Amino acid sequence: MNLTKITNLNKEQIIQLFELTKELKKEPLKFKHSLVGKNVFFGTEKSSLRTRISFEVAMNHLGGNCIYYNLKDSTIGKKESWKDAIKNLERYVDLIALRVFSHNIFNEVVNNTKIPIINALSDDYHPLQILADLFTIKEKLGHLSKINIAYVGDANNNVTHSLILACAMFEINLKIGCPKELIPKSQVLIEAKKIGNNPIITTDPFVAVKDAQIVITDSWKSYDVTKDNTKILQKFQVNSNLMKHTNNALFMHCLPAHRGKEVTNEVIDSVNSIVYDEAENRLHTQKALILMMLK
Ligand code: CP
Ligand code: NVA
Repeated sequence: MNLTKITNLNKEQIIQLFELTKELKKEPLKFKHSLVGKNVFFGTEKSSLRTRISFEVAMNHLGGNCIYYNLKDSTIGKKESWKDAIKNLERYVDLIALRVFSHNIFNEVVNNTKIPIINALSDDYHPLQILADLFTIKEKLGHLSKINIAYVGDANNNVTHSLILACAMFEINLKIGCPKELIPKSQVLIEAKKIGNNPIITTDPFVAVKDAQIVITDSWKSYDVTKDNTKILQKFQVNSNLMKHTNNALFMHCLPAHRGKEVTNEVIDSVNSIVYDEAENRLHTQKALILMMLK
């Protein structure tokens, strides 16, 4: 089992994963010896607070070990091929998690090993985030069926792409408000259409959030993006005025957030903001995923 894209799992597997997540969250100690002797490699080309720390803590809680490796200073992809690196790593560890720029790296990685591979974020997808987000929404609303989600902001990014695919799988109504310059990649929309339904995409943030039970945004500057899109994104800021036009929506953000840019302090600090519960659930959903992959 791999998770390079959310569609590597089917709906039933995700529902199963959420059941296990609930159990892990309720009784963490029950699983403290589950992965004794197991080692996970966590390599990253980009920064990470939540993903890295929740991975390390997850392995620790399950009795296993996580090895952090900085791919920025590595020979991999420079002095040696990904193929050779993976063929070495699989002799040492039981699972490999990678945070990389180019999603294409995963083709080479997956084709050269039988041990599980997790995408801990690439330029195109962030499946771990969407697992935690769906779990959090289910916890808060009680179900996922036919709910209304609005995503507002830069929609040409990893979080949005994974959200689009997950919403298609779960028949969730997704409306995206974004500038015409930052619409999602067409290949993602084509894949979503094949699975189920496509999101409604509008350049009017108020149209996007109408009836929304959940409003999601993300950074206007993803990791290592140098272009400043502040001007075209300004009207997509999630602020109190925009939230007033929702169905008393809960606010979500994968974090890190740039307060005052994509979201105001007033919204992220409001009672409707569930960003820290969302961040906490990264830990619980990842524990369930690792257990499903290694057990
Ligand atoms: N949300 C998320 O992936 O956070 P990090 O970049 O800090 O890992
Ligand atoms: N879209 C953001 C997500 C951060 C977790 C980025 O790639 O930086």
